[in-house]
Amino acid sequence: MIELAPSILSADFARLGAEAQAAVDGGATVLHVDVMDGHFVPNITIGPPVLASLRKVSKVPLDCHLMMERPDEFIPAFAEAGADWISVHQEACVHLDRTLHLIAAHGCKPGVVINPATPVHALDEVLPLVHHVLVMSVNPGFGGQSFIYSSLKKIELLSKIRESRRLGFRIEVDGGIHHDTVADVVRSGAEILVAGSAIFEQGNPSANARLLLKSALDAAKQPVQGFSSAVAGGTADDGGNSLGLP
Ligand code: DX5
Ligand code: ZN
Repeated sequence: MIELAPSILSADFARLGAEAQAAVDGGATVLHVDVMDGHFVPNITIGPPVLASLRKVSKVPLDCHLMMERPDEFIPAFAEAGADWISVHQEACVHLDRTLHLIAAHGCKPGVVINPATPVHALDEVLPLVHHVLVMSVNPGFGGQSFIYSSLKKIELLSKIRESRRLGFRIEVDGGIHHDTVADVVRSGAEILVAGSAIFEQGNPSANARLLLKSALDAAKQPVQGFSSAVAGGTADDGGNSLGLP
């Protein structure tokens, strides 16, 4: 199932609740929350209090992307604030297996993220543990950057690995997704599409979400060379992980 996950990083924070709701009204089914610590990435964004406020006004799953060093120290606080999904960077976690179990132990769906320079095979051991793999298609830290096309082959490889190992993780992509890139992303096998500037930078977030989602759904209907259309369209469910998550 293709889902749109607007990144609130590009929203007007003074009107966060209304902007998030507008995106949901346009068809978004997940809200992506970018947490930056000023160390792992050269920017600082939001913490648990903002997430808790968003939780009060949003019913859709809150997808917390932790771009931070030592995420274990903050996972309990984000879970408490209302996170549904929490993803951590492979590059930031010395004990990644432990961190993913910690996320699940706090009742959240664990995800793992890889930067553009990190190969998919760095995740071989943890793929059975995760609900989603987030492929960064920009270097993390800022919204509004250009899509890095080499991420497409990583999405395709993940899709193949998922099929061959009969796993159930979902494939999410983050960075530079606009009308000119969304079709390639979907046809490579991605299912959860994070978009910040395309939704919130200008115009109406509701209309922007609706149009981007339509482009994604249209692309999912087109056959993909080397893949069955079912895989390209993203029919994986949440089964097949060894944490027994719902
Ligand atoms: C980048 C963030 C992204 C970002 C996406 O570090 O993780 O979620 O907000 O923004 P756009 O869609 O503008 O590239
Ligand atoms: Zn993100």
